[in-house]
Amino acid sequence: MGLLEGKPALVTGGSTGIGLASAVRLAAEGAHVFITGRRKTELDAAVEVIGSAATGVIGDISNLTDLDRLYDTIRGRGRGLDVLFANASVAAFVTLEQVTEKHFDTLFDINVRGTLFTVQKALPLLNDGASVILNGSTNADVGDEAFGVYAATKAAIRSFSRTWANELKGRGIRVNTITPGPTDTPGLSGLVADPEQAADFRRRLAANVPLGRLGRPEEIAAAVAFLASEQSGFITGSSLYVDGGLKQI
Ligand SMILES: NC(=O)c1ccc[n+]([C@@H]2O[C@H](COP(=O)([O-])OP(=O)(O)OC[C@H]3O[C@@H](n4cnc5c(N)ncnc54)[C@H](OP(=O)(O)O)[C@@H]3O)[C@@H](O)[C@H]2O)c1
Repeated sequence: MGLLEGKPALVTGGSTGIGLASAVRLAAEGAHVFITGRRKTELDAAVEVIGSAATGVIGDISNLTDLDRLYDTIRGRGRGLDVLFANASVAAFVTLEQVTEKHFDTLFDINVRGTLFTVQKALPLLNDGASVILNGSTNADVGDEAFGVYAATKAAIRSFSRTWANELKGRGIRVNTITPGPTDTPGLSGLVADPEQAADFRRRLAANVPLGRLGRPEEIAAAVAFLASEQSGFITGSSLYVDGGLKQI
């Protein structure tokens, strides 16, 4: 028996990187996993990888109509939702001097507003005892140059998980943040356009991590499965760091 046998789960941004690895892991634990993403080719490929335990629903979490369509699909299956991993986010390097309205609005619309409405609109579907996991970042704790707007969105996410844990405790719904350190995903490599510079960027990030390497998406997924399951039944409002020691030692 898996940890999540027969439980419906949603992973936003489940088509690549940490989201895909988490969807694969939740399905391996017995869940039926709904996954979302904006690009159809990537979403279809992810459903193919996971198999019959996955349902793909194309959509943008910053678009409330897309969220309604997503939740209509989940409601149609008639089992509610036991696990919600609000994972979808975007990032880009932009200094304070370079920030445009578009950069600010895009990051806050997706990472903050999109995450808030992802969880708000799930509330009627969440079963008592459900687990909500928000994807934060170690960047929320530091002031890395040119990452200020992204870091601020992730600080907002950490704050949301505290408030929502408090607001939802009466239904036995736990809300936690997972806090990955640098993790080897398409999203991480995509921060630097030039492939040679990207390799150097990844090397420099890895050198800062006490364990001397980037995280693997599967390692974040293992912690997501823990937070999703009853094994973490006494943990709420927390932030679980999966960062190779980056912010710990
Ligand atoms: N990788 C790291 O080092 C790292 C470290 C700390 C935290 N994180 C966090 O981990 C999460 C996943 O990151 P990742 O590195 O795995 O990124 P990724 O490889 O770029 O994956 C992002 C996923 O989110 C989807 N997505 C993006 N915007 C969306 C939107 N508006 N609506 C719906 N889906 C959307 C993407 O699909 P589409 O583009 O097709 O929509 C994709 O499936 C993010 O919250 C990120 O901030 C990552």
